[in-house]
Amino acid sequence: MFDRIAGVYDLMNSVMTAGLHHRWRARAADLAAAGPGDRVLDVATGTGDLAVELARRGAEVVGSDFSEGMLELARRKAPAIRWEQANALALPYPDGDFAAATVGFGARNFSDLDRGLAEMRRVVRPGGRVVVLEITQPQRPPLSTFFSVWFDRIVPLLGRFDEAYTYLPNSVKRFPGPRDLAGRMASAGLTDVRWILTAGGIIAIHHGRAP
Ligand SMILES: C[S@@+](CC[C@H](N)C(=O)[O-])C[C@H]1O[C@@H](n2cnc3c(N)ncnc32)[C@H](O)[C@@H]1O
Repeated sequence: MFDRIAGVYDLMNSVMTAGLHHRWRARAADLAAAGPGDRVLDVATGTGDLAVELARRGAEVVGSDFSEGMLELARRKAPAIRWEQANALALPYPDGDFAAATVGFGARNFSDLDRGLAEMRRVVRPGGRVVVLEITQPQRPPLSTFFSVWFDRIVPLLGRFDEAYTYLPNSVKRFPGPRDLAGRMASAGLTDVRWILTAGGIIAIHHGRAP
């Protein structure tokens, strides 16, 4: 599915978020607390926008994804970053190899969320951050009303062009809410787990530390 939509992915992100996704990625990259001299892994990197944001902070970044179609676009966007094909559920890196690990709009797609979180925790060195940027369902009106109109009525219309955009709202509904996700991160072995909500409660950025 991701190979198929790779060509329109960046455009759709900008249209669906009115360009705001860059701001959310910048916030997530700040929360990774990594800079010059640090090696950072961006898991399920897709076309690489979060990896690019991390590289702007001076970190040495590895972007990994299992979709070659997505990675091909990432390579064209930022040839200086290392892009590697890898499964987030079985990362090909040793324990503690990175100063931080991030995932942007990818955890929702993991077929086994707990395993994906445990893998991110495993490859981060003690004290390093794991950051999860995701769409979440706002709990209170008016955003909850806007969210259900946008996600249940407008985005599925895009599904006429590609079923991936019918899958998108469903995957958000299935994904744990902010408190539950924090619990899952703690169960994956992360400590000091916190989160911020932004964009009126539509975007959650969770972060925790490898013990
Ligand atoms: C919605 S895109 C997000 C891309 C990018 N991180 C961003 O912020 O826009 C989800 C990405 O997760 C990748 N993905 C999903 N499950 C994966 C897994 N198990 N291993 C590696 N990549 C995975 C897909 O290939 C896709 O590129």
